Amino acid sequence: MTFKGRDIVSIRDFTKEDLLHVLKVSKEMEGDKPQLLAGKILATLFFEPSTRTRLSFESAMCRLGGKIIGFSDEKVSSVKKGETIWDTAKMAERYSDVIVIRTPIEGSARLAAEATTSIPVINGGDGANQHPTQTLLDLYTIQKAKKNIDGLKIGFLGDLKYGRTVHSLAIALSYWKVDLYFIAPDALQMPDHYLKDLKEVGIKCYQTDDVFAVSKNLDILYVTRIQQERFPDPMEYEKYKNAYRLDRSLLSHIKGDLKIMHPLPRVGEISPELDETKHAIYFEQAGNGVTVRKALLALVLGKVE
Ligand code: CP
Repeated sequence: MTFKGRDIVSIRDFTKEDLLHVLKVSKEMEGDKPQLLAGKILATLFFEPSTRTRLSFESAMCRLGGKIIGFSDEKVSSVKKGETIWDTAKMAERYSDVIVIRTPIEGSARLAAEATTSIPVINGGDGANQHPTQTLLDLYTIQKAKKNIDGLKIGFLGDLKYGRTVHSLAIALSYWKVDLYFIAPDALQMPDHYLKDLKEVGIKCYQTDDVFAVSKNLDILYVTRIQQERFPDPMEYEKYKNAYRLDRSLLSHIKGDLKIMHPLPRVGEISPELDETKHAIYFEQAGNGVTVRKALLALVLGKVE
């Protein structure tokens, strides 16, 4: 198996062996390797806001001895003047050794990867579609917290319709024997085509709008934000923006070893009063982003096998 030169666009491009290999290399990356990517340049092309994805990729590159170029706002790129993402990717290909791209447009990371033939392109999130590197750090976090992924009952709560982190993670989890609980109002439920794919490979899927109806069953509760920026109709967002607010009242409805995850940012769906409980692992999860992204950069640049 080699990852050298490989684009990371969709979690659907990964076999289970691929996922396990990334998790294994990530564990190795917990240690210091300050010169591993010396002389290499990462281009971060972010057309959409980000804190964790961009900064953890940049931190990963710095911690491995590499350098960074890029932008964090479309307004300071020539896309503002009408340049296409295709041409932008072709330029970054000449200035760097690996690209991470985030845009609000589904399929744009694939497009950038097709434009870029000589270096790898990593999808840092394309609209409501995919966020594969978040999935890898989510799997790493679940494995660290629970040791075995097989047998887990995992709940997804929030905006499951537009939530790319949920879409990617649910598909990846279908390689394991897990039960998945999708908790959202009908209008924000998991899209049917994902449910169909999951059921076809034998995953038991449950749907409800009531977190307390299922929370006692769960080993992991993966909470997501209701994403204002994805709603075509602002009135629809107003209707659902406060659909869930988890606070200490959750604690009497869960198992003692439930872990709460969230890709972050949160905007009120998890009260800070849960942060100091043994259940909250969302900040640890964000921290794992650096470790897993170190592994991904080293793999696609051919510095580890
Ligand atoms: N989890 C995540 O993608 O966070 P950012 O939007 O801050 O990158």
